[in-house]
Amino acid sequence: MSEKHATLTIEGNNYRLPIITGTAGDKAIDIRELRSTTGYITLDSGYMNTGSCSSDITFLDGEKGILNYRGYEIDVLAENCSFVEVSYLLLMGELPTQTQLNDFRALLSRFALIHEDMIHFFDHFPPNASPMAILSTMVNTLHNFYPEMTGDSGEDLPEIAARLLSKIRTIAAFSYKKSIGHPLVYPRYDLSYCGNFLNMMFDKPVKPYVVHPQVVATLNKLLILHADHEQNCSTSTVRLVGSAGVNLYTSISAGISALWGPLHGGANQAVIEMLEAIHQDNNDFEKYIKKAKDPNNPFRLSGFGHRVYKTFDPRATIIKRACKQTLKALNVDDPLLEIAMQLEEITRSDEYFVGRNLYPNVDFYSGIIYRAMGIPTDMFTVMFAMGRLPGWISHWMEMMGDTKDRRIGRPRQIYRGHKKRDFVPLHERG
Ligand code: CMC
Repeated sequence: MSEKHATLTIEGNNYRLPIITGTAGDKAIDIRELRSTTGYITLDSGYMNTGSCSSDITFLDGEKGILNYRGYEIDVLAENCSFVEVSYLLLMGELPTQTQLNDFRALLSRFALIHEDMIHFFDHFPPNASPMAILSTMVNTLHNFYPEMTGDSGEDLPEIAARLLSKIRTIAAFSYKKSIGHPLVYPRYDLSYCGNFLNMMFDKPVKPYVVHPQVVATLNKLLILHADHEQNCSTSTVRLVGSAGVNLYTSISAGISALWGPLHGGANQAVIEMLEAIHQDNNDFEKYIKKAKDPNNPFRLSGFGHRVYKTFDPRATIIKRACKQTLKALNVDDPLLEIAMQLEEITRSDEYFVGRNLYPNVDFYSGIIYRAMGIPTDMFTVMFAMGRLPGWISHWMEMMGDTKDRRIGRPRQIYRGHKKRDFVPLHERG
């Protein structure tokens, strides 16, 4: 990083603030000394312009629609790698050699089971409990079962990461089996990461599941596309919670909770619910477009818009293609795909969406693929969480290892309440 300076003038005084330039040319004004030298803070609700850290993991250019993990382009990774390979890349910084990949896979197999006592937990959630609440609870609880591996020391990264990556998949599939009252299906050493997940989801004692190579390939692709997205809401949550010194599992559990929101990962479920509603309304697109444009109506087109992308989300473009291919390969004719494509087309010629740079995002077409795979709607955001996990772990580890800049995350505020009031004893209050 090279250093230049910006000049800030406040009340006639000039202050020199260092300019930080990232490796891809992204620029920031370093205001770390701002309050101590000027008495001012910056105010940036929603962190529209605030960088919270420097990171080596993911580069994103929202104006150009570029997304790279550790310097590799997302479409190249999605086309050529497995999710396990990409997880290794995010975590360790390099693509694995064949031996490293085999070792990492062996760890994933070794850690695939969850402690049998954890299985009893599933019995005590109400039958309609959200799988996201279950996931977040269970991941938090992992700390109690595996306290010796918290990641605090930064040692044993592959083991810690493999344990969490492997167990989240088992927890996700078990929560689904419990929700439908079917017996649990345990992980198998002979299946791949995605193959294992699908088998745990869909195998039944009465009807063995045959792992479909197209489904495995598509699932790998989807998880890769979700694997990291720099300082999004859930990753920032993981970093913020972790900055207080909280263990890895609990930090990730907080990230899962953040992801649940319909403005974030929960959008993939909201998209399908919206497309189903349009379908039931005899494809009355106009009604939904009108609602989405109405400033007095909180309704938004789910799966559209993004804080950082002001052009096509590169992930959405790949997912749309994969969606068409997968439905064709599985011989699935889902009317929601046609509705989604029509909705996209309508927005591309509507000044409201064009003027605000509102394009389909990663969540717009992913749910249609999950449906075709047989994954229930309320599990969609769990799928997102499984995909995002290597990113969360990588960011948590990076933050913990950054001994120079690591501090508890603690934003400031501008107070706008009462300045000072005289206390009135209870018996004198009207
Ligand atoms: N439908 C209709 N109008 C929208 C939409 C939408 N989906 N998204 C943004 N707008 C409008 C918004 O009303 C505002 O209009 P105006 O300038 O007239 O007030 C303008 O576009 C800018 O929106 P914003 O809310 O200031 O943008 P933001 O960066 O704060 O929010 C967002 C980004 C993703 C939360 C938002 O676009 C949204 O709510 N989208 C729908 C939910 C969604 O798909 N979320 C998934 C995001 S991608 C994956 C992920 O992060 O998990």
